[in-house]
Amino acid sequence: MNNSLASFFYPKLPNIIGHRGAYNLAPENTLISFRKAAQLGATWIEIDVRLSSDKIPVVFHDNDVDRTTDGQGPVQSFTLRALQKLDAGSHYHSDFSGEKVPTLLQTITLCIELNLGLNIEIKPNFGQATETVTAILATINPFQEQLRGNVLFSSFNLLCLKNLINLCPEWPRALLVNDLNNDWLTKTKALECYALNPNYKCLSSIEDIKSILNSGLRIIPFTVNQSSIAKNLLGLGVHSIITDDLGSLNLLKNYEI
Ligand code: G3P
Ligand code: MG
Repeated sequence: MNNSLASFFYPKLPNIIGHRGAYNLAPENTLISFRKAAQLGATWIEIDVRLSSDKIPVVFHDNDVDRTTDGQGPVQSFTLRALQKLDAGSHYHSDFSGEKVPTLLQTITLCIELNLGLNIEIKPNFGQATETVTAILATINPFQEQLRGNVLFSSFNLLCLKNLINLCPEWPRALLVNDLNNDWLTKTKALECYALNPNYKCLSSIEDIKSILNSGLRIIPFTVNQSSIAKNLLGLGVHSIITDDLGSLNLLKNYEI
């Protein structure tokens, strides 16, 4: 293990992490989705965080609000107040109408209440890598003691991970990748990462998995929705699986090789 990792708040990773909460059973990235994940027995969730126009970290996947709310336009053109007027539940089902876009602060508060660990994926709006990290850290750092061991940051955006090291190296970091063609080893070393979070489709070679494990990194693939694939990956030494299908995959939460 790389000595530079010694200063991390080491996350207590579970086998299974709920993607955007309980993606298959509730509107993604909403408080009700996080509660549902906990009800299903999840101990960690993955969320996406970006900024509103007034620079408040909010939990939201897309650049635009169109797909998951009744509004239109880029998230970064909405103040928090305007974002929270939108309906973020009806796109999933009318039973969830009126569900709001949560702030990161609301989400942290709920996760502490439910004892849920948080994989915070930083998804900056265009050109906002630095200010997004600064705003996220201002929100989360007051909870450092309560959240110790229960947080992992991740991002596809290298500048976000670099800003995290510079501003608060104690929070563990993971590099998200969609393939293993690019220089994952050089990048994770330079960014002093705790984990590599690859698209599971690029983990078809056992040799690739071995070389990631040999580098000292944890492996947390996304988004695995088939139990057989999840079992196989866990059997090969992958540490945690991010899934939409907590209903099925959470049965693997105590799975041991
Ligand atoms: O963090 C894993 C996964 O969420 C990355 O892709 O697009 O679902 O945020 P995406
Ligand atoms: Mg994500």
